[in-house]
Amino acid sequence: MKCVFSPQKHLQDNRQRFSAYKETVKKMFQMIPISAEVEASSPDRCRTCAVVGNSVNLKKSHFGPLIDFQDVVIRMNQGRTKGYEADVGTRTTHHVMYPESAVDLDNTTRLVLFPFKILDLEWVTKALSTGFSGRSYAPMRSKIKANKDLVMVLNPSLMRYVHEVWLQRKGRYPSTGFMALVLALHICDEVHVFGYGADSDGNWSHYWEELRNKKLKTGGHPGDTEYAMIKELDQHQIITFYRGW
Ligand code: C5P
Repeated sequence: MKCVFSPQKHLQDNRQRFSAYKETVKKMFQMIPISAEVEASSPDRCRTCAVVGNSVNLKKSHFGPLIDFQDVVIRMNQGRTKGYEADVGTRTTHHVMYPESAVDLDNTTRLVLFPFKILDLEWVTKALSTGFSGRSYAPMRSKIKANKDLVMVLNPSLMRYVHEVWLQRKGRYPSTGFMALVLALHICDEVHVFGYGADSDGNWSHYWEELRNKKLKTGGHPGDTEYAMIKELDQHQIITFYRGW
C-alpha cells in the first residue's frame, strides 16, 4: 500500500483538534477560576517558596522545619507528608499533579496542572465534578477531592517554552519537578529547592518506597540536563538547592 500525504486532511485534522481543545478549555473555565490568585511582588515583602521534589535523598535529611518555614510549599504527584514529617515537613500550599499521579487534597491546597494533552484538561474538569472515564498510559482516578476554586491550570505553552528554550529540546518533555521549579521562579522571590536528584544507579527513586523498576532511570525526561541546570541556578544564587545526601 502506498502512503500519500494529504495536506488538506492534515489541516482538517489540526482544525478539528484545535476546536476540540478550545471547547474543552471553555468547559474547564466554567468550573474553575479564570485566573488563579497569585500574591503580587512588592518591595516590602519577600515571598519565599519551598519546591519539594520526590527524591529518595530526602530520607533522614531533617529538612521538614525548613520546608514548613517557607510561605509557599509546592509538592507534586504522589509526594506525601504523613510518616515523613521530619524530613519533608507538613504544609502543602500547592500540589502539582497529573491524571495519572493524582491524590486527594485538603480544602486549602491549590491543585496545579501543567497540561500537555487535551485529556489532562478534560480530566481536571470531570474528576472534580461528574467523574472521568477516559483512558491514558496509566490507570487514572475517576474522581478526586480538591477545592475547585483553588485550581490553577498553566498555559500549555509554558511547557513548550521550558522544553524548547530552557532544556533545548532534550528528552521528550520536562519533568513535573522541573516545571514546578519554573513556576516557583515566577511566583516567589526566594526559591528553596529540596528532593531533587537520582539515586546512585541513576533512577528517580522516591523517599517513601523501595524502587521496584530498576530500569526506571528518569523516564522520558532529560534528568541529567535538568539536574545540571538546578545546580547552575544554585551556583548563580537564583535558587538555593538543598541536597539530602
Ligand atoms: O517521580 P515523580 O515524578 O513523582 O517526582 C517528582 C519530581 O521530583 C520529578 O519530576 C523530578 O523532577 C524530581 N525527582 C528527582 N529525583 C528523584 C525523584 C524525583 O529529581 N529521585
